[in-house]
Amino acid sequence: MCPTCECQATCDTACESPLYKELDDFIASQPKERDALIPVLHKAQQLFGFLPLEVQEHVSKAMDIPVSQILGVVTFYHYFTMQPRGRHTINVCMGTACYVRGAKKVVEALEEELKIELGETTPDRRFSFTSQRCFGACGLAPVIMINDDVHGRITPKKIAKLLKNYGSVKSGMKKDESFSGVF
Ligand code: FES
Repeated sequence: MCPTCECQATCDTACESPLYKELDDFIASQPKERDALIPVLHKAQQLFGFLPLEVQEHVSKAMDIPVSQILGVVTFYHYFTMQPRGRHTINVCMGTACYVRGAKKVVEALEEELKIELGETTPDRRFSFTSQRCFGACGLAPVIMINDDVHGRITPKKIAKLLKNYGSVKSGMKKDESFSGVF
């Protein structure tokens, strides 16, 4: 399925998505070397939000690189994803300081509030829920990040209220609704 317009077309049936055009323009601006694959995949993920097989096949044809090789790169690097991501990414720190200060309970509270498990995306694609090790803010443990915003000394009780600030997604969240560096 086309990841952009959600029609049933694939790249082979000439989806005219402007995103593909932008991707093609970016590929054309890159040196004709395999080293350009990583920046191209970054660009593709930035445009589409994830890297489904259709997009990988498009890159394969445009760069004349076997799709198996592209798939290998996509699955090797943690940054790349073949699954659609939510509009907001919640990252829970599971580093030692955060873990001993209750990160596991924060994870459980998030799972209950979001009705998904760690590593999943909500069906409405509002939130993706992931974990990482140490954001370098151990003094504020336990810490979570939502997009680029750091939230320290998080407790399970704070979760529902915090998520409400990222709730009005369908109409697009206004800048002043977001937190930034809430410690
Ligand atoms: S262990 Fe969580 S910020 Fe360092």
